[in-house]
Amino acid sequence: MAYGEFPADFRFGAATSSLQVEGSPRADGAGETTWGVLAATPGGILDGSDFDAACDFYRRYPEDIALMKDMGIDMFRFSVNWARIFPEGRGQYNPRGMDFYKHLCGELLKNGITPFVTLHHWELPQALERDFGGWRSKETSKYFGDFAEKVGKELAGMVKNYFTVNEISNFTETCYNTEGGYSPPQVKCDRKTERQCVHNAILGHGLAVEALRRTSTADTEIGLAENPGVFIPAIETPENIEACKKTFRLANAAKLTAICEGAYPEEYLGQLGADAPDFTDEEMRIISSPLDFLGLNIYCGQYTLANANGSVKVLPFPEGFPVTQMSWGRVTPEALYWGLRTCAELWHAPKYYITENGCATADVVRDGKVYDTERVMFLRAYMQNMLRAVREGFGPAGYFAWSLLDNFEWREGLSRRFGLVRVDYETQKRTVKLSGEFYREIIRTRKLV
Ligand code: NOJ
Repeated sequence: MAYGEFPADFRFGAATSSLQVEGSPRADGAGETTWGVLAATPGGILDGSDFDAACDFYRRYPEDIALMKDMGIDMFRFSVNWARIFPEGRGQYNPRGMDFYKHLCGELLKNGITPFVTLHHWELPQALERDFGGWRSKETSKYFGDFAEKVGKELAGMVKNYFTVNEISNFTETCYNTEGGYSPPQVKCDRKTERQCVHNAILGHGLAVEALRRTSTADTEIGLAENPGVFIPAIETPENIEACKKTFRLANAAKLTAICEGAYPEEYLGQLGADAPDFTDEEMRIISSPLDFLGLNIYCGQYTLANANGSVKVLPFPEGFPVTQMSWGRVTPEALYWGLRTCAELWHAPKYYITENGCATADVVRDGKVYDTERVMFLRAYMQNMLRAVREGFGPAGYFAWSLLDNFEWREGLSRRFGLVRVDYETQKRTVKLSGEFYREIIRTRKLV
């Protein structure tokens, strides 16, 4: 029985995103993106690298698909770069950009791997930033709906699973805020504008859901991939559990709560006062279009205890608490269980996927091998928590490891490695790491070994 068994219909996948793996960002008529502009700015990418080559997936995808097949992976999550399809974000369609994704889907299907497509994984066509101020404007939400419609139409029949957007905060509040934004376009704005960006993004999500329903076949399933802030009761008492649930709903008020409930919680709007975003009832209806699943990107959570008034006290991480190579990457395996359980208890979505989980480690190659035992330990611990959720009746339909390949980790550039497969950026040679062998064995035995 090992640590536990996976249900017969549980599916194992791997995830990537366009900009992080493809390379050739301007090939075949693709337009400029906000990330392209940042990468061309001195100091924009912290290690001085760029994503011009990344993993060269744009040209090497057949090889990487063969690798996945060999590992037993049967779902692949990737994203479509909006600027490949509409170089200006709207208007002129670029069929050559679309061809790449058609060929990719064809190759996946030929190898028995199901494509799971993310429509927006952070890189925005620069023209939309230039012309409308990007996510500050509802024009961008509208054009995102048009982009979704086109992709849905072009990939109909090949793709039956879509995530509209990935991690809303990382293309809105991380980019446009009162401090000046960590990620591109690094806009300094007032608080109301920051909240408006988030609203415009969830509106874009809703418009994309509607567009995909119009253009895809009836058996197409649609959701989004979010990274909700997860609260873990440090000790599982009814009071601590209840306080976590309440706090989770409020902490995710502007995104998952609004999407799943069709309204912003009064408490959220009350706290914002005049800084609350402008919205209409019709927009809230669109935002809460029914979904077939929720995708959860879960890396870490915060340990908490209940206060007497039912709120939570977030416990600071003590010095020496286990952390991976990302400063936020605290090893908190229970986050996977509590993320799933809290969403299930609050919102009862028809289905869940873990759309990302993994860690960055300081891998070294020894005798041609990468013994990334810390990643094995990490994955095993998180998966034990996933299996607990399965046993208790709110397990996901499948799990996507982040990531298939080492790749371009945004502002950290090529300096952080998340892959089950190592990429040598000099030669583009792939080496399956120990963690990749571990994943292969789990998939083969359907047991957590
Ligand atoms: C979340 C993002 O979706 C992905 O792009 C990123 O590389 C991983 N987390 C790791 O930071």
